[in-house]
Parts: sequence; structure tokens; C-alpha cells
Amino acid sequence: MTATPPTLSLAPMQDVSTLPLWQVMHRRGGPDVYVTEYFRVHSDSHPSKEILRSITESYTGKPVIAQMIGNDPADLARTAIELQSRSDCAGIDVNLGCPAPRICGKKSGGALLMDLDLIREIADALRPVVTGSLTFKTRLGFETEREFQDLLALFATLPLDGLAIHGRTVREKYQSDVHTDEIAQAVLELPYPVTANGSIVSVQSALAMRKKTNAAGLMIGRGAIRNPWIFDQVRQAIAGEEMFQPTLIDLKDYISDLYEAVAATSTKFHEKSHVTRLKKFMNYISSGISDGQFTDEIRRAVTPADFWEVCDRHLDSPEKMAADPFADGRLFCGFEVLVNS
Ligand SMILES: Cc1cc2nc3c(=O)[nH]c(=O)nc-3n(C[C@H](O)[C@H](O)[C@H](O)COP(=O)(O)O)c2cc1C
Repeated sequence: MTATPPTLSLAPMQDVSTLPLWQVMHRRGGPDVYVTEYFRVHSDSHPSKEILRSITESYTGKPVIAQMIGNDPADLARTAIELQSRSDCAGIDVNLGCPAPRICGKKSGGALLMDLDLIREIADALRPVVTGSLTFKTRLGFETEREFQDLLALFATLPLDGLAIHGRTVREKYQSDVHTDEIAQAVLELPYPVTANGSIVSVQSALAMRKKTNAAGLMIGRGAIRNPWIFDQVRQAIAGEEMFQPTLIDLKDYISDLYEAVAATSTKFHEKSHVTRLKKFMNYISSGISDGQFTDEIRRAVTPADFWEVCDRHLDSPEKMAADPFADGRLFCGFEVLVNS
């Protein structure tokens, strides 16, 4: 295994991995690299102003990669130019993995994995205009991981600076076991760095992913929403240093910071809709606490008073937070994934 510590990135997550989360996460260590939720690209699109703010107003000091989703090489190239002129994004990434039917139905996201020629055309159109890094984020195939061999042969010839691999097929969505052999093979065969992604939810699973794949980067999504300290914990574990172990009170402070940060970026603040907005994060944060009861109760909270009463009751404790979001082998709610489809 390489001795260089892996580059740690926060996975792009629509509606969740947004500026407020980044700011709050940064104060708890944070990743080395942030990736925006995807910018939709079509014939008359311009980059969403709200997502652009996550680059232009990010004060984390860390590089931000702008991710795009679309299928037309010329539109993607035009958008990459616009993104670079309107922000100081460190690179451009293309989504080849989104399984949502409304995206795949338009032959974007994961559906691109069925058209290898188009993937090449996209890379060729982007390379001359992308001034920073050009990366793709892929899955192992659309229907089956057997498709990965052809994809890998293609990726090996593309003018990319890196590839993030979510070790599942599009059909497998978010729950199945992650196929790590294919990621390990990509690490060996690709001429540029590979970032491994998929169900890294704890230091233990991060180290296991690193060991199995030897990937240059680890990308963490849902697990980092639940545990924003995970990046520092992984760094500490790799450096052989004592690892910070957050308590439930630390978790409540994090929720409180997130509550404020999300409110600060809301154009119209309304108490009940704010609680609803927070639930997108809480679905992940509440995993693994009080045997699912915290999740059930927070889901029923309507007002801020309800919300904080539930948080106080479950989290006002110096008890250490569980290292893993799964209890008794059960997958808890947030990890049953709530992605718009
Ligand atoms: C709510 C949600 C939104 C997501 N949005 C995006 C997205 O905009 N772009 C993308 O490439 N992947 C997106 N993903 C996939 C994640 O980036 C990541 O590949 C996946 O969640 C597996 O990593 P994890 O197990 O660490 O969460 C999303 C996932 C979730 C749960």
C-alpha cells in the first residue's frame, strides 16, 4: 500500500452537500477537496447561481471541483468555460453515475455508461477548455459490473486527470455491497489517480477501502454528513495519532451549527420549512442512535421546539457517538437513501 496519505474528498450530494454543510464541516476538520452538487447542463442552461455560490463564497480555503451533469459535449464544454470564468473552481467533473430515472431518462448521469463513444466525445470536448483538473465520477456499469472491463479500457485512453469510482452499478443504486475488486483493478491500470467511493461510513471502512483498493483518494458522502469529524479521524488513524472521538453533545453542537448555517443562507426563513430542510441532513445524522428511535422522532418534529426537544432528549449525553451508523447489522434510515428521483 502506498505510504502517501489519501486525498480525502466530500462526495457531491444534491441538496445536501451545499455551502452551509461545507462551512460547518470545515470547522470540524473537513475534507481536502469539495465537489459541488451537479450543475445541470442542457442546450440553453447557465450554471445555477445557488450552486455557484458554493464555490464563490466557500471560505474553507480548500479546492472546489464543479460537477456537471448533461450529455451534449458542446454544451458541457460551453458550461465548463462559463463555470471557470465565473468562479475559481479547481476543476471540472462530469457525473456518469446518477441513477435517478429523470436523469437517466434524458441519457445523462448513469445512462452515459451505455454509450462509450459519447463518453469519449465528452472528454475530448472538455479537455481543451478545462484549465484545472478534468475528472469523471463513474459507477461500474449500468446493469452489471461486468461492463466495467470495457469502461476501464475506455477510461485508460481518456485525457483525464482522475476518476472517482462509486463501486456499484447504476442498477444497484446505493445499498448493495460495494465491489472493491474493480476499483483496485482501476488503480492498477489507469494512468491517473483513482478515488474510491461507496459506503465509507467510519474510520474502519475508510481504512478497509484504502487497503483493498490502494486508491489515491477516498471520497465520503453520507458517512460524512453523519460524522463530519471523519476526515480528521482518518488522517489521525493513518498518522498513528490519537483519534478524536466525538460525543453525543459534540453531535448536538454540530446539528446546532448546521441549523444556524442553513438558516443564514435561506432567502426566506420560515420556522417549519426550516425544520423540514434540516431533516434532509438529520436522516443521515440520526442513523445509529437509540436504535432508530431518534430518527423516528426527529422525522415527526414539526416546529423548532419539537426538533430541539428530540435532540436534547437523545443527545444531551457525554456518551461517545457510535463509530458506525449501523446497529445490529440493520441499515438505518439515512442510509436507505433519499435521493430525488
Ligand atoms: C442525497 C444524495 C445526493 C447525491 N447527489 C449526487 C450528485 O449531485 N452528484 C454525484 O456524482 N453523486 C451524487 N450522489 C452520490 C454520492 O456522491 C456518492 O457517490 C454515493 O452516495 C456513495 O457514497 P457514500 O456511500 O459515501 O454516500 C448523491 C448521493 C446522495 C445520497
